[in-house]
Formats: sequence, C-alpha cells, structure tokens
Amino acid sequence: MKILVVGGAGYIGSHAVKQLTENQIDVIVIDSLETGHIESVPSNVPFYQVDIRNKSAVKEILEKEKVDGVIHFAANSLVGESMSNPLKYYNNNVGGTESLLEALVETGVKYIVFSSTAATYGEIATMPITEDMTTCPTNTYGETKLAIEKMLKWTHGAHNLNYVCLRYFNVAGADFSGTIGEAHTTETHLIPLILQVPLGQRSHITVFGQDYPTEDGTCIRDYIHVTDLVNAHILALKYLMNGGESNIFNLGSNSGYSVLEMIEAARKVTGHPIPMQIGERRVGDPALLIASSEKAKRVLGWEPQYTAIEEIIASAWKWHQAHPHGYKEV
Ligand code: UFG
Repeated sequence: MKILVVGGAGYIGSHAVKQLTENQIDVIVIDSLETGHIESVPSNVPFYQVDIRNKSAVKEILEKEKVDGVIHFAANSLVGESMSNPLKYYNNNVGGTESLLEALVETGVKYIVFSSTAATYGEIATMPITEDMTTCPTNTYGETKLAIEKMLKWTHGAHNLNYVCLRYFNVAGADFSGTIGEAHTTETHLIPLILQVPLGQRSHITVFGQDYPTEDGTCIRDYIHVTDLVNAHILALKYLMNGGESNIFNLGSNSGYSVLEMIEAARKVTGHPIPMQIGERRVGDPALLIASSEKAKRVLGWEPQYTAIEEIIASAWKWHQAHPHGYKEV
C-alpha cells in the first residue's frame, strides 16, 4: 500500500508519516512548506514541495507515484486569522482542496481521509457532541472545513472517490520519541503557550476568561493525543479500502479539562509554578466542547491509548524541552 500524505510536514501530518512508516506502509509527502517543516520529514520518504493549488504538479506526482490513497492535512488553521482574512482560508482550504480533488478524480485515486474539525459544529448546547448534531460554524476556519466536507460528499456521489472526514477536537502532545512535535510560527494553542513559561519564553499564561458557565469558570476542552489521532487515520484508510462507506467521525477522548486544570497539570509535569493571570474572554470561544467518539470506536475499532492529561502534557514537554525553538537551531 502506498499513501500520499498531503501536508505531511506539518504538526499532525509529520506524526502521521511517522506512524505510517512504522506500520510498514509506503509514504510520499506533498507540502508547500508555508507552515510545515522539512526537518520533520524522514530523509527516506519521497518529498515534493508543491502547493495543492498547483493541479498539474500534483497530477504529475500522482501519475508517477501511483498511490492507493490520500490523507489530506494541508490547510491554514488559525481561527483568529480566518476571521480577519477569510478569503485566504477560502482560497487555500476550499480552493486548494477542490484542485486536489480534481487531480485525484482525474488520476483515479479512490480513497481520501480528510482532516476536519470540531469547529464545524459551532455552539452546541448538549454534550457530548455526536456527528448527527447541527453544524453551524462560528468562524471562517470551521466554515471552510465544513465546505470541504460537503465538497467531498458531492464528489463522492459523482465520482468513485470514497472519503472519511475526521473531526478533531483539541489535538495535543507529541510523539513519545521527542523527535517531532508542535512548532507553529504563530502559536495560539493552550499547551505550547503554557509550556513557554517553564521554558523561560514568557512570564505567565493568560487565562482567557473566568466567567464561563463551568465549575471553575474557565473553558473546558477535550484533548486528544496526536498519536491516537493519527492512528484513527490509518484505521479510516483501512476501513475505506475494505469497502466501508464514506463517513464522518469525531475524534476526542469523551472527557474535558478546564483551562485551570490544564495549568495545574502542567505544573505537576514540569515542576514549575507557572504563574497565571486572568484575562478577557477570547472572541468566539465556546464554554464547553466534548466529543462523543463512540462512532469511531464502534465503526473503525479505534481506541485512544493516551488519555491521561499529564501524559499528554509530558509528551509535549519532552519535545519542547529538547526543541525550545521548534525545528530552528537558535
Ligand atoms: N486559552 C487560554 N489562554 C491561552 C490560549 C488558550 O486561556 O493563552 C484557552 C482558550 O480560550 C480555550 C482553551 O484554552 O478555552 C483551548 O484553546 P486552544 O487555542 O488551544 O484551542 P481551541 O479550543 O480554541 O481550538 C482548537 C483548535 C482549532 C479547532 C478547535 C476545535 O486549535 O483549530 O480546537 O474545537 F478549530
């Protein structure tokens, strides 16, 4: 089996490449390197620096490499930026995927696993969130991912392209080897920002609001370890290749932690006091997001292994300690 990982030099993509190769699956990678890191791609994996909007280049690679399936991670994914620059997100996420799908259809590729998001749901009143609940995104990022899910549905109806959309909740942690991890130029995620305090890169962590209708007043999120997350992609590919119907699955851990609980867990893991300040709410943050992943467990046979929050943070801490400036040697 040969799999093309699109966006394979990014945070989640690089973990997928590692796990696929460890499972003796042939992998090739396409990445524009706009936000990805070439250092995260193993030197023995064929790598093409190509933007997915360049259809002729993507087609050439597909014709040469003859892949059996695709995992598609390539996207812009900053919620705040998607609100100030929505057309960038429509152009790269929606336009890029449209171009990629044309290339797949024209070269006869039959299977795609797509990186979607819990941001497709928007504000949901009932927890845990199941896949049949209303999708009403509150930001452009989620809207573009939902548009792609719909594009896949209609493309599947017209062409023999079978898909699985995986709606991620809060992806976190790093491969336990400590060799690859999260390295964003613009960091907005809670765990890496908390860990910048014990690394000496910031004085404190700001909690975005303590007046939410939760027990301690801070937002609750469902954190899932990146290794468990990418494992679901391999299961999804196998499911499709065994004749499974096109489908959508949530990926989370069915449990939630508040921002204060996350800071406390990081204090335990790092042994650092991690000072904090309570700040204003961040616009667009729902109080509570918890996934039901029962469908992924039942249909794909997926079982997350690393659900303890200290273990998730410890894996991120190992990566950030060894690479305080990400892949850059500073
Ligand atoms: N937070 C803080 N302080 C910070 C950073 C974050 O208090 O400095 C809080 C946020 O307000 C939120 C929680 O920590 O309540 C988690 O924030 P993240 O930015 O780490 O993650 P989000 O839940 O906002 O978003 C994540 C992904 C999105 C995806 C979304 C889907 O980053 O791409 O989950 O649920 F769309």
